[in-house]
Amino acid sequence: MMRNKICWNDGWRFFRKDQPAADTLAAGEAVTLPHTWNAKDSQDGGNDYYRGTCWYAKRFAKPELAAGEQLWLEFEGAAMTAEVYLNGQKLARHEGGYSTFRVELTPLLAEGDNLLTVSVDNGKNRTVYPQKADFTFYGGLYRDVNLLTVPAAHFCLSYHGGPGVKVTPTVDLDARSASVTVEAWVDGPAEQVTFSTAGQTIEAPVQDGCAKAVFAIENVRLWDSVEDPYLYTVTASLDSGDSISARYGCRTIGFDADKGFLLNGRPYRLCGAARHQDRQGLGSALTKKEHEEDAALLREMGANTVRLAHYQHAQYFYDLCDENGLIAWAEIPYITEHMPEGRQNTLDQMTELVVQNYNHPSIVCWGLSNEITGSGKTDDLVANHELLNDLCHRLDPTRPTTMAHVFMLDPNDPLVFLPDIRSYNLYYGWYVGDWDQNDRWFDEFHAAHPDAVIGLSEYGADANPAYQNGRPEKGDWSEEYQAVYHEHMLKMWSERPYIWAMHCWNMFDFGADGRDEGGKPGQNQKGLVTFDRKTKKDAFYIYKAYLSKEPFVHICGSRYVDRPEEITEIKVYSNQPEVALYVDSRLFAKKAGDKVFKFQVPITGSHTIRAEAGDCQSVILVHHVDAPNPDYVKPGSEIVNWFDREDEIVREGYFSIKDSMGEIKAHPQAGPALAELLAPLQAKAAAAYGDVAKNIQIPESMQRMMDQMSVEATLKQMGKLVTPAIVHEINGALNRIAK
Ligand code: GCU
Repeated sequence: MMRNKICWNDGWRFFRKDQPAADTLAAGEAVTLPHTWNAKDSQDGGNDYYRGTCWYAKRFAKPELAAGEQLWLEFEGAAMTAEVYLNGQKLARHEGGYSTFRVELTPLLAEGDNLLTVSVDNGKNRTVYPQKADFTFYGGLYRDVNLLTVPAAHFCLSYHGGPGVKVTPTVDLDARSASVTVEAWVDGPAEQVTFSTAGQTIEAPVQDGCAKAVFAIENVRLWDSVEDPYLYTVTASLDSGDSISARYGCRTIGFDADKGFLLNGRPYRLCGAARHQDRQGLGSALTKKEHEEDAALLREMGANTVRLAHYQHAQYFYDLCDENGLIAWAEIPYITEHMPEGRQNTLDQMTELVVQNYNHPSIVCWGLSNEITGSGKTDDLVANHELLNDLCHRLDPTRPTTMAHVFMLDPNDPLVFLPDIRSYNLYYGWYVGDWDQNDRWFDEFHAAHPDAVIGLSEYGADANPAYQNGRPEKGDWSEEYQAVYHEHMLKMWSERPYIWAMHCWNMFDFGADGRDEGGKPGQNQKGLVTFDRKTKKDAFYIYKAYLSKEPFVHICGSRYVDRPEEITEIKVYSNQPEVALYVDSRLFAKKAGDKVFKFQVPITGSHTIRAEAGDCQSVILVHHVDAPNPDYVKPGSEIVNWFDREDEIVREGYFSIKDSMGEIKAHPQAGPALAELLAPLQAKAAAAYGDVAKNIQIPESMQRMMDQMSVEATLKQMGKLVTPAIVHEINGALNRIAK
């Protein structure tokens, strides 16, 4: 008989504390999966969401089973560690909150009534990743649970939660043909497997539990990312009636240090964003609807790649990547801090990630870790990575390994080159320094390592769409600053074809209960789209201008309604060559341009501003006001207009805060003077940040970068500690020292 798979999400009972029993079931909260117990308490800041062990229970009658038939339970996601009990007896334990695992119930089934209980734990420990990271570790049975009935002879269910079938297409681009190797694993008595795909059928003998067939496909239709994400389907069936199918794509991928990513033999520039699997109000308990909306927003922006951070995502989302042509970076949550006792867990999570997702054409690399040296680098950490690297090569010789390195890791460190390819997380222009330091970083890296494939796995700036600033400044959390920052980053990318992929951090604001910034506790607001997916911030549209073929025009600043300036900048993003701007229905100006169009518009009262490009249009309203609207400014932030004019700072022939740290340090008088002026500030900063400041080793390459920063930028870096008065005092002292 055919296998039978039913969704088993209904009729559960949830218990916050103790293991339920048959007679206490009624006391549990009735819940339907997917479910997380952190949907609400993880989105209010304070880092106080519930972490611990909770229980799920379900009573059920033993289903009819024919001779030899087996009953299995399939969990698509139980975060983070689960134990499964049937009628009080422990059946299984699974460590890792992001992968599928299955349990056979048959041996312990009672006639009539059965009680299934599952403990799920998201508590702190030193063995199961993730334990330290900038996102909420939601707990719960947050993905589907399915009940499977299979005949005695069936495709394997117990191999690391895998699909039981493995498809390896090999494409010959010149011949426009593909050779597709299909392997299937069988449990129980079976002589042969019947495979069929692309209109062909092959019967293969089962040997040692495995059957294999090789198909030749002529005039193959390639899987060509968002251009043509064509999917074939292979089915495998047994005489017992069991049958499974898998989709696959025929493509070639390549990684070149100069040309970047290659798809089907040609350079194919990847630009997109990272995605966390959570949603405002739902936490991690997403349904197909939310997954579909996220994939659609990525495609609407024109992204052709997505970094599925920082863990294995739902099968359904990888399926959507296959269907939409989104090139995916997949990774395990080996993140931020290495835990020696967590080694086996990294190997287990990586095995499941690769075995469960091998068939997806959208996945092009396996991420070993994220910023793992952020808390220090040890030999044990390196050894753990060597093991993971070898494991991936054994499980999947068709894809490279990668790592997302933290920006403090010296680009000459051997660990940078342990994986086959790599990317860096750079936050110049947000956490540190200025955005053009990203450009210099890449130019220096590529010059020093011309044979190393390099990408940008994270970069971003927080923005709350409520905050508006006509003179955007780093750290003001304004929508405008985020937009100009990404304008720069995309320009940098467009000028450097060797960058194999750009993954903006992040496509969506996401849950980080440890944060309480920018007016939205519990959120990281680097998203191009808000946590509820309701607002596309202006920065979304500069990506669309670079990436989307769909004609559009977008006036920025729709939320910057009250404007104190007499002449206001109206900025328009578009992928069209010309934009016409109308003020109160009168043509104000027409401009030809490339993606970014700026108009300086005098405003006196209330105005309707309309941009037109081809058949597209965008409209905003603005009011001239006498004083800035206080609602537009992040509470507690000093938007320090330190100086209005350059000539107040620079005294010809003398030093000033406009000079670089390195230049001043090198001068016999200015160096010591500046050191003396900064000492009290650095002491205060160290006191404020505890011993973290002391034990951060600043690598030589980073020190070089910091020396290139101006004194002014360095002082801004120190945030609220540095008041305008202090800046004036330092600049005054430097102005007295001749160069
Ligand atoms: C790090 C980290 C992310 C984090 C991001 C940020 O690079 O990898 O998980 O969210 O920085 O600080 O926003």
